[in-house]
Amino acid sequence: MKPISLTRYLIEEQHAGRINADLRLLIEVVARACKTISIAIGKGALGGVLGDAGSPGAASMNIQGEAQKKLDVLSNDILLEANAWGGHLAGLASEEMDHSQPIPDAFQRGNYLLLFDPLDGSSNIDVNISVGTIFSVLRCPDDVTAPGDEHFLQPGNTQVCAGYTTYGPSTMLVLTVGHGTHVFTLDREIGSFMMTRRDVQVPAETKEFAVNMSNQRFWEAPMQRYVDDLLQGKQGPRGKDFNMRWVASMVADVHRIITRGGIFSYPLDSKCRDKGGKLRLMYEANPMAFIIEQAGGAASTGRQRMLDVQPTGLHQRVPVFLGSRDEVEQAVRYHREHDAES
Ligand code: AHG
Ligand code: MN
Ligand code: MN
Repeated sequence: MKPISLTRYLIEEQHAGRINADLRLLIEVVARACKTISIAIGKGALGGVLGDAGSPGAASMNIQGEAQKKLDVLSNDILLEANAWGGHLAGLASEEMDHSQPIPDAFQRGNYLLLFDPLDGSSNIDVNISVGTIFSVLRCPDDVTAPGDEHFLQPGNTQVCAGYTTYGPSTMLVLTVGHGTHVFTLDREIGSFMMTRRDVQVPAETKEFAVNMSNQRFWEAPMQRYVDDLLQGKQGPRGKDFNMRWVASMVADVHRIITRGGIFSYPLDSKCRDKGGKLRLMYEANPMAFIIEQAGGAASTGRQRMLDVQPTGLHQRVPVFLGSRDEVEQAVRYHREHDAES
């Protein structure tokens, strides 16, 4: 049977009373922007889009102190421009912008707030490895017409929609509006996202973990013990052999987990302890946590359900454990036992 388009899926969700017309159109606009980003990425060196932003030898920096790639800036601009005039948003926030932006006065303002990581895994751009876009949609609080950063600081459990696009061998959009997680593949000939998996379920158990092992010596004790036990395989306390994968694009690593299970972890370590972690809560951890929970998986900081974390800053960082439910629970157990003893 021919798969249904994203447009048809969203209209069916609207008719079922699960989303309103504004949210439907907002998702369509984000998906259209992602198609534009996908085209820019696909041109690669021919499009002059590789390499650092800024001047030669002096890459521009974002607020996180990270060097920006040309495609970080370009993808941010594409998402900003596409979403400015639709009338569905009150404001936007991005990894690449110091502060959120209210929708300009010249345009109609709507009731939603959009947060995004315009290009995730950007260190992989220049070596032609999968990158992605991550986004999260919140409601703008009532009576707020020009939202500031503080209005975005809502826990992940209030998200009305989350999604990511992975720009790999094919471009895929993975989406939840709180009624399951669904996968759409971009049909490049007709230019539409088509549903290729409905109601994805992440297997509860796994034998695959994803972590940057080069940070091992900087981890906290419970993480050290957890990975030590994984590495002991069949002979160790876990009684099974584990495989390891690390793409260094969160989107690509999470997409593998959505597809075949696994656990993804970017734990606290002594290098990022002062910042609270490496990955950002509002536009990386929260949308991925919503998507994974809606697919039957789990997401935690190691000590708290991710979606229950009360944000304190737009660019706040958190430790992340997400994926197959039983395995995330194991990682959490190691933290709980460690904290109980100390
Ligand atoms: P971004 O490119 O948006 O800054 O995100 C990169 C993140 C994430 O995608 C990935 O999982 C992680 O950084 C990789 O970190 P390491 O290079 O430390 O492995
Ligand atoms: Mn990222
Ligand atoms: Mn990014």
